[in-house]
Amino acid sequence: MFESASAPKTAVIAGVTGAVGAALALELSKRSDWRVLGIARNLPAAPIAGVEYLHVDMSDTGQLEAALEDATNITHLFYCARVTHAEQVIEDAGENLALIRNILDAVLAAASNFQHAHVVQGGKYYGVHVGPFKTPAKEEDSRAPIDNFNYDQQDFLVSASKNEPWSWSASRPNTLLHFSPNIARNLVSTLGAYASLCKSLGAALDFPGPPGAYRSLTQVTTLPLLARAIAWMSTSPECANQAFNVTNTDLFRWEQLWPRLADAFDMPLGIVRPMQLAQTLATREQTWNKICVAHQLPERALNAVANWGYADATLERYWDEILSHTKCRQYGFDDWDDSIETFFQLLAMYREAEILPPR
Ligand SMILES: NC(=O)c1ccc[n+]([C@@H]2O[C@H](COP(=O)([O-])OP(=O)(O)OC[C@H]3O[C@@H](n4cnc5c(N)ncnc54)[C@H](OP(=O)(O)O)[C@@H]3O)[C@@H](O)[C@H]2O)c1
Repeated sequence: MFESASAPKTAVIAGVTGAVGAALALELSKRSDWRVLGIARNLPAAPIAGVEYLHVDMSDTGQLEAALEDATNITHLFYCARVTHAEQVIEDAGENLALIRNILDAVLAAASNFQHAHVVQGGKYYGVHVGPFKTPAKEEDSRAPIDNFNYDQQDFLVSASKNEPWSWSASRPNTLLHFSPNIARNLVSTLGAYASLCKSLGAALDFPGPPGAYRSLTQVTTLPLLARAIAWMSTSPECANQAFNVTNTDLFRWEQLWPRLADAFDMPLGIVRPMQLAQTLATREQTWNKICVAHQLPERALNAVANWGYADATLERYWDEILSHTKCRQYGFDDWDDSIETFFQLLAMYREAEILPPR
């Protein structure tokens, strides 16, 4: 049950140091009606002003209960965590289910006026990581016949909230676009590092995925937009007990972005040359160090800037990735972003922060 939109609210953000959790914490901390508690095992590299960090392992129920026992005024749980996982594997559903169960139990034990639990899902709900799927994907489409922690977590919230005074919602972004200097699992910094290495090695900017992936339609979600969408759906009574796709709403093909990326690094556009970056670039730390020295960039390990397995998993998709935005619009959220423009704005931010070299 929601109180009026401007009533004071207390959020617990599980996974507050992750890509989504940090963006949501930043968004809510700017709003005067929210108090924000954030949970992660490790302290944040760059704490957000106004966020109260709790240093807790959610697999430890005793620790969780102790950390939250005095937080009686929690109104919202935002579940943005996920178990640490390798790239290009199916994530473990059991472990991810246990974490959301533990944190919800602890919140329900402490809170006297709990209103809403939100879970962040993603294109993986539709099997975007497995192979071609029905596009545009709609929220009520049939599930894919795969192990998927998104399904288990949603089923858990549906069941736990039944006949209770609180509701649930789920957001489904696709691949995220963001400036997160401490998160290497990031398309912009990873592709920027890839281009820098290729240039330094005298190579052109080849596209490392298969030909179909260069030409297929894809869709991304800029993080601040996702954070606004999560805040909206978690406080709008009409969105209760529903899931919503959240994307920038536009589409692009890598073949449209790639020539601009080559130009941004002042290097020739290459060919489509399928390769696994995780293997090809595994031994390029020294080349990266030389780039940093040549451009007087503060020393930063290559694996703190680039996650090759993540790029491989994203750029190997020869199928279209399209999530329908219609339901969000129907329910009143009509935000959007220009994906290619934002990609290059974020690239400029990485350069300004001296994480990627200049042109
Ligand atoms: N990243 C993407 O491109 C993307 C795209 C679409 C959808 N999504 C979805 O968005 C959700 C969040 O993903 P993300 O990429 O933002 O995650 P992430 O960056 O990997 O962050 C995970 C967060 O969970 C915390 N965490 C993990 N295990 C924990 C534990 N046992 N106890 C307490 N905290 C724990 C981590 O902090 P500690 O390690 O310090 O504990 C971190 O704050 C996922 O469901 C994902 O599928 C992500």
